[in-house]
Formats: sequence, C-alpha cells, structure tokens
Amino acid sequence: MSQQQMVEEIKGWVYEAGERIKEKLQSPLIVEEKANKSDLVTNVDKETEAFFINKIRQHYPDDQILGEEGLADQVTDFGGRVWVIDPIDGTLNFVKQQDNFCTMIAVYEEGIGQLGFIYEIMRDELLWGGKGIGVFLNDQEIKDVPDMTLEKGLISVNTHMFLRNTYETQTVAMKSLGVRMIGCAGIGFKELIKGNQTAYISNLQPWDYAPAKVLIEELGLKIIALNGEPLDLRQKVPILGATPATFEEIQNRQN
Ligand code: IPD
Ligand code: CA
Ligand code: CA
Repeated sequence: MSQQQMVEEIKGWVYEAGERIKEKLQSPLIVEEKANKSDLVTNVDKETEAFFINKIRQHYPDDQILGEEGLADQVTDFGGRVWVIDPIDGTLNFVKQQDNFCTMIAVYEEGIGQLGFIYEIMRDELLWGGKGIGVFLNDQEIKDVPDMTLEKGLISVNTHMFLRNTYETQTVAMKSLGVRMIGCAGIGFKELIKGNQTAYISNLQPWDYAPAKVLIEELGLKIIALNGEPLDLRQKVPILGATPATFEEIQNRQN
C-alpha cells in the first residue's frame, strides 16, 4: 500500500470516528475520574480508542498500538511501526462543553514520525500530513506559517503551568500579545500550525503531542521538551511548540 493510500484510509477512519462521537453526544455520557477530578474518561473515549484499534488490527496486524486509555499494547520499544492514539483530546471540554476537543492519531516508524492527524470534530477541521508529503487543513495545503515573534502573536499555555509560573510561563506570556488556555493540546498545536498563535506550552503525554510533532517538523516549526529530555514517546514531558522566532526568544530569554 502506498503512503497516499494509507493517508486516505486513515482519513476515512478519523471522519468515521468523528461521526460516531457526534452521534454519541446525543445520549448521556458515562464519566469516570482517573487521577483527579479534572482528569476524566468517558465511554466515548474508550469506544473511540477501541474503534481505532479494531481498524488498525484488521489492516496492520503486526503493528504496535499505544493508546491513552491503554486498551491496546504496553509499548516500550518503538522499533517497527507504532500507532499512537488519543481518542478524545480535551475530555474535560468534551464533558463540560461538548466542544473544543479533538480526536488524534499518529504513525511512527522506528521512532520517527511519519503521519499525523488532528481532527477538531465540531468545526470539521482536519489537520493532517506527514514526513515528505506536506501539511494540510482539510484540502488546503499549509505552505508557510508566518514566523511571528512573541510580541506579534498570541500564545497558548497549559493552565496549571501558567498558574504556577512553570518554566516562567507568566514572563513569556507578558511578552506576548495575549494568552489563550483552551484545554486541548490538539487545538493548541493546531492554532500554532494555522498561524493563529506563535507558541503552545504544556505538560504532555506522548499521545497528546505525537501527531503535532510530525506536522510541526514537516513545516520547519520547532518542538522540544523544556526539561531537555528527548521527545521519544516514552514519558510525560513539558513541551514547547513554537515558530522559529518565538522559539529563539523563549530559549534565550532574560527576565
Ligand atoms: C489533556 C488536554 C489538555 C492538556 C492535558 C492533556 P486529555 O488531554 O490535551 O489540554 O493540558 O495535559 O492531558 O486527557 O483530555 O486527552
Ligand atoms: Ca484523551
Ligand atoms: Ca490528550
């Protein structure tokens, strides 16, 4: 199967997942707490993860699958092809707003990002692309993301990091035009890639950043772990995604 056929196949799954998720919003959600009262999982998170796993297992039975809800494999070795799934990114928004959430999937080979899909269902915006194939918003290719400085743009920051001033996020925010806290990593990265924001800073698990990393690298934007760790899909890390100009400013900042 060519890469193009694989892309079309995954797009089909993502749109189908989106339709199912919208349909399920017509019925009451079954909500459970995970680590704390704002860390939620619903029946729809689990069903969507199972939906993707089923599709992948049918078509790519030898591959490994890393999913947030842990319904597939315990992946420790990123050799071969690994699929990374966040069935609902922004579950708290999904429960409280029925809006501002995404479904996300990425494909990595030998630890290197190949394809990424971030679908904001309620806006019908699919940001997708991959290594060597470009990045697209629905059917429109994103060619150049304006290389905005901090002073010229909005930034998006994880609320807990901002409130605690982790990695001097308040200082960084004060240098920007304004701060947005949407509560969904996929949307934070999507707005950066669309050129609507100049940076996104958050503490993220591999499934929160795996698709965005592929798209960001393809476009020549920057993504790093602020604690100096490698982004190797093995652990939760504080992440900065940014335009090159903003990246330089944040890395070289002096208070
Ligand atoms: C969360 C959201 C949130 C980010 C958290 C993530 P989830 O994902 O993306 O914006 O700040 O770190 O865990 O749990 O809703 O998939
Ligand atoms: Ca999730
Ligand atoms: Ca997530």
